[in-house]
Amino acid sequence: MPFATIDGIRLVYDVRGQGIPVLWIHGFPLGRWLWDPQVGALADVARSIAMDLRGFGGSSAPQGPYTMETYADDLRRLLDALGIERAVLAGLSMGGYVAFAFYAAYPDRVRALILADTRHQADTPEGRASRYALIERIRLEGTPAAVEAFLPRLFGATTQRERPELMETLRRKMQANPAAGLIGALQAMAERPDRTALLPAIRVPTLVIVGEEDAVTPPEVARQMAEGIPHARLVVIPHAGHLSNVEAPEAFNEAVRDFLSGL
Ligand code: MLT
Repeated sequence: MPFATIDGIRLVYDVRGQGIPVLWIHGFPLGRWLWDPQVGALADVARSIAMDLRGFGGSSAPQGPYTMETYADDLRRLLDALGIERAVLAGLSMGGYVAFAFYAAYPDRVRALILADTRHQADTPEGRASRYALIERIRLEGTPAAVEAFLPRLFGATTQRERPELMETLRRKMQANPAAGLIGALQAMAERPDRTALLPAIRVPTLVIVGEEDAVTPPEVARQMAEGIPHARLVVIPHAGHLSNVEAPEAFNEAVRDFLSGL
């Protein structure tokens, strides 16, 4: 399992495929395995780097607080370590929040953006309060508290009805995340800035993808985001929820393949 050590932090990643470098950034409470349906299927067009953000999976989980900028700096240093000057950044949900932070700090390192099932707005006061309440539960009950809180929201109605085994498989993978990392990520999400003002400043080709059944970051939000970014294309994936890349990998991959081939 390759890893890079950055400022004493171990970041685990997988690299696969040939072509344009794509750095895949997972959401919460997930891991680099989120991108398994993409990295193999797109290996003929993309050199995929899928990494565990600090605090997730096999990467180090130092004491927080973390910020979106912390994650973005980790990614930039990972690109440096791999000798990659510019990459396509593909982030799902929290991974999208990280991609925005990365673009704000290092726009010259971004070839294009793929923003999947994410949002540009900051948390509402209620949303922020519920993150801090969940942090307290995780301190008492550990990782399962986060998994139980998020699992039902991540999947669309079609998957919940027809594919309980997929949800079970992902539940097991989510359980492998350490509590300290999940707490750090919840703090980072709660305190992240609103990115509405960044949207018109995004100068790279952007693909916005959303599952039509996404209840966390609904299609309406994706539409607003795509309208705000000058060179954005929106793709809505039928019968998929918040984890559109896992729930409908063929449609998701087709959208990404088409986008990458136009770069
Ligand atoms: C995620 O999938 O990363 C989270 O649902 C994002 C969030 O809670 O805002």
